[in-house]
Amino acid sequence: MDEFVFARALHVLGVVLWIGGVAMVTSVLLPTLAGMPSAIEAMTFFEQFKRRFAAQARFSTLLVGITGFYMVYVLDAWHRFTQWQYWWMHTMVLIWLLFSVMLFVMEPRGRRQSVSTPVQSVSSETFVRIQRKHLGLLILSLVTIAGAVAGSHGW
Ligand code: HEM
Repeated sequence: MDEFVFARALHVLGVVLWIGGVAMVTSVLLPTLAGMPSAIEAMTFFEQFKRRFAAQARFSTLLVGITGFYMVYVLDAWHRFTQWQYWWMHTMVLIWLLFSVMLFVMEPRGRRQSVSTPVQSVSSETFVRIQRKHLGLLILSLVTIAGAVAGSHGW
């Protein structure tokens, strides 16, 4: 069972690194960028920032996915995906899928396109829109974390 405890610790560390970063981007970085005088400069900075954060987020997403499925296997908890009281198991996998598609499919594709098309029509409204999307994902993640901690400790 030691391996299981180790996997759980890694799982939570991965979640902290990843969702903590999303929280910082949502509540600190994006509002700061929206208030900058030059939206083009702000977008250039955001693109560089995103590239660096994507590397960390990719690593933590992989860690969370591997340790998560390992725990499902050890607990033999596949049946939970058919029971609504384990809604937090469904949302964990949903969030993981959403971020995996964004980090492993959309981000690299966007990077390839931005090489050929430089930053054009951006305004502070662009950052407000990006922040709204991040806020939605952040709220879903926080509700899931609370549900997962409570649910896996017997609530
Ligand atoms: C492939 C995706 C994932 C799988 C298969 C998965 C699976 C699991 C499993 C099996 C547990 C242990 C449940 C128990 O002991 O009864 C767990 C715990 C947990 N997971 Fe996930 N998870 C995934 C993604 C996520 C994500 C994206 C988050 C955060 C948004 C998350 C947050 C947590 C938290 C906070 C715990 C509770 C840890 C504790 O208090 O001991 N997981 N996960």
